[in-house]
Amino acid sequence: MADRIAVVGSNMVDLVTYVERMPNRGETLEAPDFVQGFGGKGANQAVAAARLGAEVAMVTCVGDDLFGPRTRQNLAHNGIDVTHVRTVEGAPSGVAPIFVEPDGENAILIVKGANAHLSGKDIEAAADTLKGSDAILLQLEVPLQTVYDAVAFGAKHGIQTILNPAPAHPDLDLSKLDGLDWFCPNESELAMLSGMPTDTDDAVLAAARSLIARGIRNVIVTLGGRGARLITADDVTQIAPVTVDPVDTTGAGDAFIGSFARFLSGGAAPEEALTRAARYAAHSITGRGTQSSYTDAAGFEAFCRELGEG
Ligand code: RIB
Ligand code: NA
Repeated sequence: MADRIAVVGSNMVDLVTYVERMPNRGETLEAPDFVQGFGGKGANQAVAAARLGAEVAMVTCVGDDLFGPRTRQNLAHNGIDVTHVRTVEGAPSGVAPIFVEPDGENAILIVKGANAHLSGKDIEAAADTLKGSDAILLQLEVPLQTVYDAVAFGAKHGIQTILNPAPAHPDLDLSKLDGLDWFCPNESELAMLSGMPTDTDDAVLAAARSLIARGIRNVIVTLGGRGARLITADDVTQIAPVTVDPVDTTGAGDAFIGSFARFLSGGAAPEEALTRAARYAAHSITGRGTQSSYTDAAGFEAFCRELGEG
């Protein structure tokens, strides 16, 4: 049986505009291209894990609009169990207007819509699915209480939990994440949540250790062009960056987290899972969009061979 991952999180419809530059206030500017795609951090991570062969279930809320059924269909087409996708009457689907500049960097607005309705009741309704999972994957595009409930559920039933605290949320209460197994912030999220600087390698280490002192087991810090680091109570592991020509960095973080969850629940040691996740994320930035740039297991192996490390 395949490894089972449950994502308790968001879905969005990405409205991606490719710009030559960002418009100024009050300015109207023509942009060369626009693409609509399926996104949302939860759904992105779910799709990455599913394309790499995991058995994935999603606990999420869609809107009562045109995007709702299409989102459900997209998840199902990716082989994801949609039993616990709930339509919220009267609510719009989540959307994300995204602007991508020629260097591949982006600016994102999110409108949570139905995602703001995901609650502990959805977790209860999906209890059997969650109990049968190897890992529960979480992000911060749904109410914080829902995240706390999911971490508590995982701790109670012995299912490992992985939290990607994105987008950064200053109100995340670390004392409510008791028993969380994997915490995966980037540098700026780590700075906000620890209240400490993260501008040097030593500072990153100190900030991560402060979270471990507060009960989190493993901290994975993604460092953009400098790779990633796994920090535990008594160990630090550096994961080398993978360099590619960037086309669109949107969703690269989700490619990293979703593939990490898949490799880890597939039995890889953490360092190996992270090394492979860094490659999967690098591959995603060579293509446009978020889910549209996530390859499958065969495409990933081919990319690893191209890197000469396969
Ligand atoms: O992490 C990228 C994602 O953030 C996009 O797909 C967008 O929907 C926002 O949620
Ligand atoms: Na991409």
